[in-house]
Amino acid sequence: MAAKLQAVRGMNDLLPGASARWRGAEQRLHGVLARHGYDEIRLPLVEPTALFARTIGEVTDIVEKEMYTFLDRNGDSLTLRPEGTAGVVRAGIEHGLFQGQLLRLWYQGPMFRHERPQRGRYRQFHQVGAECFGSAEPELDAELIAMTAQFWRELGLPGLRLEINSLGSREARAAYRGHLQDYFRGHCAALDADSQRRLETNPLRILDSKNPDLAALIAAAPSLPEHLDAESRAHFERLCALLDGLGVAYSVNPRLVRGLDYYGRTVFEWVTDALGAQGTVCAGGRYDTLVEQLGGRPTPAIGFALGLERLLDLLAVHEVDLSPQPAIWYMVSTPGACRARALQLAAELRAGPGAPVVLMDHASGNFGKQMQRADKAGAAVALILGEDELAAGTVTVRLLRAAQTTQETVPQQAIHATVAHLIAKDSL
Ligand code: HAM
Repeated sequence: MAAKLQAVRGMNDLLPGASARWRGAEQRLHGVLARHGYDEIRLPLVEPTALFARTIGEVTDIVEKEMYTFLDRNGDSLTLRPEGTAGVVRAGIEHGLFQGQLLRLWYQGPMFRHERPQRGRYRQFHQVGAECFGSAEPELDAELIAMTAQFWRELGLPGLRLEINSLGSREARAAYRGHLQDYFRGHCAALDADSQRRLETNPLRILDSKNPDLAALIAAAPSLPEHLDAESRAHFERLCALLDGLGVAYSVNPRLVRGLDYYGRTVFEWVTDALGAQGTVCAGGRYDTLVEQLGGRPTPAIGFALGLERLLDLLAVHEVDLSPQPAIWYMVSTPGACRARALQLAAELRAGPGAPVVLMDHASGNFGKQMQRADKAGAAVALILGEDELAAGTVTVRLLRAAQTTQETVPQQAIHATVAHLIAKDSL
């Protein structure tokens, strides 16, 4: 027997119901982004492999072991995007978008990482991300972070904590890297295999280790904030003051280093305890040198990405359902000539933005069964068209969620007015 075909491990189907909850949450996010002046950019899911190696970094978990990389039919090495920032920077350079003025972009869509799947960690997952180019000022960091705080308010999500840190300048990081190496070399035998490898390639990443046996060693390691350059320290202090002024609460986490190499200065994460091990819902930071590094004109930048699976999980934990709730009108009719007329009426009623959802019943069956299906579909209004109504050019309008049965038979042109009138009467 042929093997059963199933979705690829770690890649999820989004079924009706869930997709409406996602859409509702996404619409809230898009609203906040639009009010801050961000425009959408849509990019390919596939990019040249070299783009990710040169942006995220050769010695990061993502590039070393998590990318979906393949040779296409021309023999070119391509990769399914593991994140969005690299593609946005590539597109910005390619299309000459970085002209010195402020450029605010957002994107949304699937990302791919070959990680070990568990709750909140998938191989295809979805991000909403935003990137702002053209200012190195801490005011931009503060505005961007405050925008993410606004997300949680508009989504009705309590309990997310903001952690921030500064990674300093490239030079300060290089010096700090040396201090870290000296320290961890002194404790090399106590490190696990992964951290021993990181010691030579990317020692900052040891600070990110989740191995509990290393916690004490990491806690006693030299601290990054003590090695900041003066400019980065001033930038960070100003950011903290601005966040205070905006009423955005945060804690400084000196161990926050992030898993991608392009960051410098500000980094931040929004975390929750409500989702188990994968509690980072939204994360980002500054990458002031990346555009130039990829061949563009020097353009400071900051951005973040939010994991939609984790966001929707958190909304479910807090029983927040933001599915759009459109008014549903349900056409109940006798098959044949009545149904043909009902079809015409439904098409007219749906025309134009702001029109209700109008559902046709396509089954045979008596009105009772059709009314049951109307109820099950969540309809607020049934529009009944039987032989009598057809002959008289009328329709019977019945409210399905009213305190008591309310219905009126009216001319077919008067449906909208009658629904409005019946609803007004019911809510008196
Ligand atoms: P990241 O920290 O790799 O940053 O991912 C951002 C968010 O995407 C995470 O906090 C998490 O919510 C979600 N996420 C990441 N991996 C997975 C996964 N395997 N399954 C489910 N959700 C996941 C970036 O991607 C940067 N590009 C963010 C950024 C934009 N920095 C500056 N601009």
